[in-house]
Amino acid sequence: MPLRGQKIGFLGGGAMGEALVAGLLRNGLVASSSLYVSDINPDRLEYLQDKLGVNVTIDNSEVVKAADIIILAVKPQVIGPLLKEVSSVVRVEQTFISIVAGVTTDIIHSFFDDSVPVVRVMPNTPCLLGEGACAVSAGKYANEENVKKAMAIFAAVGKVLAVPESMLDIVTGLSGSGPAYMYVLLEGFIDGAVRLGMPRDTARVLIAQTMAGAAKMVLETGEHPSKLKDMVTTPGGTTIAGLFALEEGGARALMMKAVAAATDRSREMSRLK
Ligand SMILES: NC(=O)c1ccc[n+]([C@@H]2O[C@H](COP(=O)([O-])OP(=O)(O)OC[C@H]3O[C@@H](n4cnc5c(N)ncnc54)[C@H](OP(=O)(O)O)[C@@H]3O)[C@@H](O)[C@H]2O)c1
Repeated sequence: MPLRGQKIGFLGGGAMGEALVAGLLRNGLVASSSLYVSDINPDRLEYLQDKLGVNVTIDNSEVVKAADIIILAVKPQVIGPLLKEVSSVVRVEQTFISIVAGVTTDIIHSFFDDSVPVVRVMPNTPCLLGEGACAVSAGKYANEENVKKAMAIFAAVGKVLAVPESMLDIVTGLSGSGPAYMYVLLEGFIDGAVRLGMPRDTARVLIAQTMAGAAKMVLETGEHPSKLKDMVTTPGGTTIAGLFALEEGGARALMMKAVAAATDRSREMSRLK
């Protein structure tokens, strides 16, 4: 049980920080008395204390002093000043976990004097509902135990896979940006049904549940999507007629281009930091 007895601190108590705290409590992984959150916004801290019963402070260093595991959950533009602010109280036996998009473990290491273990995680927005897809990568000083701790935390808000850090830009282009791709697909299908006369709300529920159900089929059967597709495609039937229209429009090539474009942009943004 990698989180037993661990005090977990969050630097930044925004949307993702709150989702993680709520997930840890919902799954009974840590008591609220072992959770510490700092944020620049006192109203936010009051809200988190009232709602989730966690320890809160405006002082980021206090959280670093108190916790065994520290989650960096601020926006990319404030991570540099924040790491400078807390670097003097960082201890080598701690585990740092960063969800800050586009900031490599090497950048984080550059703020610390010692070989402090850093694990980087790329979550996505469905973590807010406990249905996230997260990839975890070990920095050069992180061992298996550090990675296990990170995986246990993010398992509380969705599915977690370990990948080398060199793959995190692709993760960003796939599951990080993926919710937006799915929303666009949903919108297109909904408009397709509305165009034919179906009420928008009816179409929205039918296709969103279809997407969720199809995703569950892929995850739970472990079958290749093409096999599942073949199983529902009767020769000369309706589905193959719809699939032909998608193929004619180059749907699959477009999806591959979307992942490549978002991955390229993620790489470009990391270089700018
Ligand atoms: N949300 C997602 O789906 C998602 C997905 C993948 C990765 N991420 C990454 O997760 C990180 C957090 O995202 P988020 O959506 O939770 O952002 P968020 O809601 O803006 O949360 C960040 C929190 O940190 C606070 N903050 C700002 N400066 C601070 C400082 N110096 N010290 C302490 N707290 C400070 C912010 O307060 P103010 O609002 O008052 O500035 C805010 O409450 C980002 O780096 C993002 O790239 C998020």
